Amino acid sequence: MVKIRFLGHAAFEIEGSKRILIDPFLTGNPAAAAKPEDFDSVDLILVTHMHGDHVGDTVEIAQNTGAKIVAMYDIANYLVEKRRNITTVGMNYGPTEVDGVKIVQVPAWHSSGGEEGFMVGNACGYIVELDGVTVYHAGDTFVFKDMELFGELYGIYVALLPIGGHFTMGPMEAAKAVELLKPRYVIPMHYNTWPPIAKDPEEFKKLVGDKAEVVILKPGETFEL
Ligand code: NI
Ligand code: MN
Repeated sequence: MVKIRFLGHAAFEIEGSKRILIDPFLTGNPAAAAKPEDFDSVDLILVTHMHGDHVGDTVEIAQNTGAKIVAMYDIANYLVEKRRNITTVGMNYGPTEVDGVKIVQVPAWHSSGGEEGFMVGNACGYIVELDGVTVYHAGDTFVFKDMELFGELYGIYVALLPIGGHFTMGPMEAAKAVELLKPRYVIPMHYNTWPPIAKDPEEFKKLVGDKAEVVILKPGETFEL
């Protein structure tokens, strides 16, 4: 069984034979459903880009648990240089395997500025196959036609898509992404954390219609497969 737990904003835990966190922004996250110290054993932490609402507590959790941080090569190097005492897997757009988990880093149309304001690496999304379940976390992005290719190449079962607008796709664009990706299930994210990204997920669900099953999770809720 694979469990997908929504931790608020763009943070997810995917748990099966491994425990994976994606974009664990918990400290300072008004929607956070967990604290960094709640995690005592984590295998991998996937980071989509350098923005604080995605890198979040990655380093602290990695230091506490020994989890490997998977990030774009430049981001991995930057984190090692800044904080040390962490193990990173620096990669780039393409497929790899880390500790038996198949991971594809895919493009995302977004920026990736670090604390100093300059860009560190590029923004990305991830397609993760854990125990036969393929999950796509889009990161922060606008919709783009190549999403069709992600579906064709990897057969996406669950898509985690931002719907908040302003920094990412809104509901209408995310519904188009569903059409391109052709997942079985979609979980909306990156909305309602702050006023600029206030959105009604039911509006997204209506727009998706029968193209996929939209699973709306409140922070802390788990979707079991
Ligand atoms: Ni961002
Ligand atoms: Mn963001």
